[in-house]
Amino acid sequence: MTLNISPGDLRRMKQARRAAALTGAGVSAESGVPTFRGKDGLWRSFRAEDLATPEAFARDPKLVWEWYDWRRSLIAPLAPNPGHYALAQMEKIFPRFTLITQNVDGLHRAAGSTAPVEMHGNIWLTRCVREGSICENRQAPLPEIPPRCPGCGALLRPHIVWFGESLDPDVLEQAFTAAREAELFFVIGTAAAVQPAASLVGIAKEHGAMVVEVNVEETPVTHLADVSLRGPSGKILPELVNLLQSA
Ligand SMILES: NC(=O)c1ccc[n+]([C@@H]2O[C@H](COP(=O)([O-])OP(=O)(O)OC[C@H]3O[C@@H](n4cnc5c(N)ncnc54)[C@H](O)[C@@H]3O)[C@@H](O)[C@H]2O)c1
Ligand SMILES: [Zn+2]
Repeated sequence: MTLNISPGDLRRMKQARRAAALTGAGVSAESGVPTFRGKDGLWRSFRAEDLATPEAFARDPKLVWEWYDWRRSLIAPLAPNPGHYALAQMEKIFPRFTLITQNVDGLHRAAGSTAPVEMHGNIWLTRCVREGSICENRQAPLPEIPPRCPGCGALLRPHIVWFGESLDPDVLEQAFTAAREAELFFVIGTAAAVQPAASLVGIAKEHGAMVVEVNVEETPVTHLADVSLRGPSGKILPELVNLLQSA
């Protein structure tokens, strides 16, 4: 595959010292992680919007945990794809590179990205509803549903930002700072339908970043892109890394 990037655009990309990327579920699609909007995203007849909410958890924590247990069990055997590895490489290409992800699957870290900003949390972390303590738990399936805090016995919940909840202020600050400071901003495999993540693209652009989109389809932020690369990220990103590393 040859990427459709003009020599001038490539030069501008190579000159960037501060780069950032925002990734979404599309980056993990080639690893086999279902996106919410694809047909594989459905579980029993529930939609994600009906399960990933504080109301659903208050009403029926067992049901919500059964869904997470299903998702965790789907993701557990999966591995990063070449797109994840290419993004980990970018830390070596740019003097500063911030990876911002909406994904909760942990695959960026598994591919070697050192400090991904996980805007929506991580499916392998639990949080005690009483104490707020966060623990890693990689058991899938879980032996007991819903799981309880070993310290105090209260319910544990997934350390995930649900629909209707606000994002961690520190995480938001890191993401917005990276967007404001970026000279080059990649937006990859996201439908750009969830706020505030999608607004990062506009913020980067307003602050002068060159915007490069990688997606199999057009999205609501395509019009902001200086360069649009249409295709699967697992194919395009390794090519892009090769070009960026070439003399
Ligand atoms: N892997 C995960 O962790 C995961 C999976 C599903 C949903 N979610 C959550 O659901 C929300 C969904 O929003 P979203 O925008 O991330 O995902 P989305 O499901 O709304 O959109 C996926 C996007 O990826 C594109 N895409 C699909 N396959 C691709 C590929 N191979 N290469 C490049 N692009 C591809 C699609 O065209 C679409 O624009 C997020 O908040 C996220 O936290 C996470
Ligand atoms: Zn506790």
